[in-house]
Amino acid sequence: MTKGKRVGIVGAGNVGSTIAYSLAMNGACHEIILRDNKMEIAQGKALDMSQAAAAVRSHTVVSVAQKASDLTDCDIIVITAGSPRLPGMSRDDLLMINANVTREVVADIKQYSPNAIIIMVSNPLDAMTYVALRESGFDRSRVLGMAGLLDSARMAAFIQEKLGYGGGQIRASVMGGHGDDMVPLPRYSTVAGVPLSDLLTQNEVDEIVNRTRKGGAEIVALLQTGSAYYAPAKATAIMIDAILKDTKQIHPCAVYLEGEYGFSDVVSGVPVMLGANGVEKIIEVTLDDAEKAMFAGSCASVQSLIDTLHKNQFFKGE
Ligand code: 2OP
Repeated sequence: MTKGKRVGIVGAGNVGSTIAYSLAMNGACHEIILRDNKMEIAQGKALDMSQAAAAVRSHTVVSVAQKASDLTDCDIIVITAGSPRLPGMSRDDLLMINANVTREVVADIKQYSPNAIIIMVSNPLDAMTYVALRESGFDRSRVLGMAGLLDSARMAAFIQEKLGYGGGQIRASVMGGHGDDMVPLPRYSTVAGVPLSDLLTQNEVDEIVNRTRKGGAEIVALLQTGSAYYAPAKATAIMIDAILKDTKQIHPCAVYLEGEYGFSDVVSGVPVMLGANGVEKIIEVTLDDAEKAMFAGSCASVQSLIDTLHKNQFFKGE
C-alpha cells in the first residue's frame, strides 16, 4: 500500500484549525496532524474535525502530535504558530517574537520531516518565509509563504462588492509582500476577462486597491481579539491541494527570489506554478514603470525586516 499523504499543521489556533477543517472536508489528504502547546484544546478540535470528516464520509483523520517526532515524514508542514496580530500592532511588531518561534519549529521539521514542503503563514509573512528558508537549508522550491492568494481573494471580493455583480468570475492579481505596500495589479485583474478599467472608474479602482492593502487590518479592527482566519485558511488549503494533487496551477505565493524581477536574497509574492515538488516555476509578469516601482518599494520593506534580523544577529555565524 502506498503511503497516504500527511499534512502537519503547527499552531492549532483559528488559522491552523480552519486549514485542517477545510482539508478534512474535501479529503485533500489522508492524515492531518495538529501540533500546539495547548494540547487538550488541539485534541478537542482534532476529535471534532474527525467526526465532521466522518459525517461527510471523508477518509481524512485528524490527530494531535504529542511530541515533535509525531510530525514525522509529512509531505507538507504548515506553520501558523506565533503571536497573532492584535489591534494596533503592525505585522512587523511580530518580527523577533515569531522569528524565534519559526526557528524552533523549523529545527524539528529538519529532523523529523526533512523532505517536507514548508508553507509559512505566520506574520510578518515574507520575513518568516525567509527565516524558514535560511533555517531549514531546504531548496527554495520547498519553502513558500501564503499571502498572495489571500490578498488577491480580498481584492476580488472588494471588486464584486463595488460592482454588485460578477461573483465567481473575478480574477484579481496582487504581487509583492504581505504588508501595507503590497502591489494590487488592476491592470491584470478582470471580470470574466473584461478589464477592470472597462467596468469601474479610476477612483473606484483606487478605492479597491487601498482597501485591499488594508484588508487584514479592517478585519483585525472588527474582530478586536485577533485576525482573519477563514480566507487565510482557505488560501492555504488551496496551495496544499495544488501541491498534493500536482495540479501545476499558477497561484501568487511568497518565494525567495534569485534574480527574478531584478531582486535577490529577499522573499516576495509573485505568481508561481505549484506542483508535487512545491514551487516548480516562478513566473515573471511584465510590469510597467509604476508597478515596478511599487514592487521595488514592497521588496524594500521586506528587506528592512531581514536587515533587522541580521542586525540582531539572528542567523547563526553572523
Ligand atoms: C491578514 O492579512 C493578519 O496578515 C493577516 O489577515
